[in-house]
Amino acid sequence: MTVTRKVLNWYARLSPSRGRVTPPYSHVVQIGDPRLRKVSEPVPPESIKTEQIQTIIKKLEVVVNRYGSLGMSAPQIGVNMRIFAMQLTALEIKTTSPVIVKSHGMTVVPYTVFINPSLKIVDYRKVSHAEGCESVRGFSAEVPRYKEVEISGLGPEGEPKSEKFKDWAARIAQHELDHLDGKLYTDIMDRKTLCCNCWEEVNLSQGKLAIPFTPE
Ligand code: CO
Repeated sequence: MTVTRKVLNWYARLSPSRGRVTPPYSHVVQIGDPRLRKVSEPVPPESIKTEQIQTIIKKLEVVVNRYGSLGMSAPQIGVNMRIFAMQLTALEIKTTSPVIVKSHGMTVVPYTVFINPSLKIVDYRKVSHAEGCESVRGFSAEVPRYKEVEISGLGPEGEPKSEKFKDWAARIAQHELDHLDGKLYTDIMDRKTLCCNCWEEVNLSQGKLAIPFTPE
């Protein structure tokens, strides 16, 4: 108990802006934040072009690019609305091992935003690969996902859109859609494969290592 209080006090000193930070955040909330467990609200279509919603959509893009992540959902920046973004750049594919690119079926996904998305399974076969989440920073685990899905919803201007995603892109879409329903990959992962991504560096640094919760 004492140990917990000590740790909490230590964290409190690190967060001088406590109580003064309002979402949408420029950072990503972490597992334990109750907003990651809520079923998010649909966005009223007539409100999509309002400044409030457009600000959230723009902030999502800023955070995706800041973290270099493959996807991001509004709850992860503190907003419980049914909005997510996904992106897989040519540069990311180029800097990933060709073996992984091939085995995981990675293809370029231009920056895409879905509002009020729904999912239809196109190919019911499930594929397991290691997957991470900016809200479970520093860890990864094997997660089974459907091979191909179709996402339908509205775009950032409120336009109806529908797109099929295969393999790695399908994984990103399923992961992000789960966030809107308060689910995390840790709910469905193969539990024995949960892995701290830097476990070797922990040894090499004799434990003097911290997981950064921002990319900088
Ligand atoms: Co995630």
